Amino acid sequence: MSVTVVLGSQWGDEGKGKLVDILSAEFDVCARCAGGNNAGHTIVVPIGPEKKKTTFAFHLLPSGLINPECTGIIGSGVVVHVPSFFVELDELQKQGLDCTGRLFISDRAHLVFDFHQIVDGLKEVELGGKSIGTTKKGIGPAYSAKASRSGLRVHHLFDHNTFAEKFRKIVEGRFKRYGHFEYDTEGEIVRYKALAERLRPYVVDSVVYLHKALAENKRVLVEGANALMLDLDFGTYPFVTSSSTTIGGVCTGLGIPPKKIGKTIGVMKAYTTRVGGGPFPTEQLNDVGTHFQEVGREFGTTTGRRRRCGWLDLVVMKHSMLINGYDSINLTKLDILDDLAEVKVATKYLVDGKEILGFPADLDVLGKVEVSYVTLPGWRTSIEKATTFDELPENCKKYIYFIESFLGVPVEWIGVGPARESMVKKEIKN
Ligand code: GDP
Ligand code: IMO
Ligand code: MG
Repeated sequence: MSVTVVLGSQWGDEGKGKLVDILSAEFDVCARCAGGNNAGHTIVVPIGPEKKKTTFAFHLLPSGLINPECTGIIGSGVVVHVPSFFVELDELQKQGLDCTGRLFISDRAHLVFDFHQIVDGLKEVELGGKSIGTTKKGIGPAYSAKASRSGLRVHHLFDHNTFAEKFRKIVEGRFKRYGHFEYDTEGEIVRYKALAERLRPYVVDSVVYLHKALAENKRVLVEGANALMLDLDFGTYPFVTSSSTTIGGVCTGLGIPPKKIGKTIGVMKAYTTRVGGGPFPTEQLNDVGTHFQEVGREFGTTTGRRRRCGWLDLVVMKHSMLINGYDSINLTKLDILDDLAEVKVATKYLVDGKEILGFPADLDVLGKVEVSYVTLPGWRTSIEKATTFDELPENCKKYIYFIESFLGVPVEWIGVGPARESMVKKEIKN
C-alpha cells in the first residue's frame, strides 16, 4: 500500500487540517512527521446525533483522529511538548472524541521542555527588530538541541535517573548561555516522572508500527505541518521554522522510503497569508489585505495573531511545486474572493526589469524584486453553496484553469467554506 501526503504549499494555514479530515474517512492511519505544537489546524465538523457544528483545533495531534476509525501517529521527526500533548488530548476527550488505543508516539521523537519555550522567547528578544515572530512553543531551541546532539528523546523518559542527570546538565547549559531565568529544574524532573508513566501506553517504535501497517495494506495518510516556505532549507531563511516541512521531511520524519509515497497533495490558499516576520512580496497593506483578513478571518489558530495577507503568488507556488512535486492541488478559501471585482495573481519576479528564475535565496535580492501580476476578472457571486465544479461561476472556473495551466498541476479539491461539506471535488486524470 502506498502513502498519501498532504503538504502546506505556502507559508502555512492553507487549510491542511480540513482536507486531512475529509480524506481520513478513507484512511486507517494518519501520521504527523514534522513540527510540533506550533501548528494549528482548524476543523469544523458536525458531531453527535444532532450534528452540532463543532470546531476542533489540532496542534500536535494528527487531525485524522476526528475519524473514529483512524489511528494517529506522531512520528520521530516531530518535537513533542508532553504537557501540551495531554492538554490537547484532554480537550478532544471533552469535545467527545475518544482516542483511547488509537494514538501513538515515536520513541525517537525529541522532547520540548518549558525551558525551550522560555529560551525561544529570550532568543526573540535578543533579535530585537529582526525577530522571527515565532510561536514561542520552543520549536527552534528543541530542534537546535537535536541537531547539536544534546536533545532528549521520548525513550529517555523511561530511565528516570539518567533522564534527571541529563536534564540538569542541559538546563545548566541554558542558564550559562541565557542567564539564570526562573525555572524549577527539580520540580520539572518530578513532574516528568509522572508524565512518563502517563505517556508510556502511547509510545511505540513508529518505524515498526508504520511498516507493519503498510505490510497489512493499511491506508496511511501523512499530515504536513507548517509549510514549504517555512522549511528550514527552502523557505525564506531565517524567517522559517526549524524543521523539514517538505516531502523530504516525510521520509526523514517517519522513516519511510520515497518509493512508498504514492500521492502528494499541495494545499494552496486562493490568496497568500503569513504569520510573523519575514519577506512577503505580494503582501497588500491596503483594502485588499484588510478584505482577506476580515472576510477570511485570518487570525492564527495557535497564537491568535492577525495574519499578514496578499495576492496569490505563483512564483512561490512554482518553487513549492518543484520541491514537493504535487500530484494535485487543494485550492482553499476560494469563497473569500467572491466579492472582488478583480483578482490578481503574481506570475513573475523582476530585478532591474529582468525576470529572475526561481525563488531568490538572498533576502536582499527578494527585497528588491518587482512583482508582475496578471489580473483576472472577479465573479461577484457567492460560491459557498456550490457542490460541483460545474456550479461554479465562469470567471471562478477561469481563475482555477489559469492556476492549473501556469503550474501544470490539476486542482482536485476546491474549498468554498470552512465546514467539512464545503469542498468541491473536481475530477482529474490520475
Ligand atoms: P492549516 O494550518 O493549514 O490546517 O490551516 P488553519 O486551520 O490554520 O487555517 C485555515 C482556516 O481557514 C481555518 O479556520 C479553516 O476552518 C478555514 N478554512 C479552510 N478551508 C476553507 C475554505 O475553503 N473557505 C473558508 N472560508 N474557510 C476555510
Ligand atoms: P500550520 O501547520 C503559520 C511560523 C511562525 C513564525 C515561524 C517560526 O498551522 O500551517 P516557530 O514557532 O515554528 O519557530 O516559528 O514559522 N509558523 C507558522 N505559520 N502556520 C503554521 O503552521 C506555522 N508554524 C510555524 O509564525 O513566523
Ligand atoms: Mg494553521
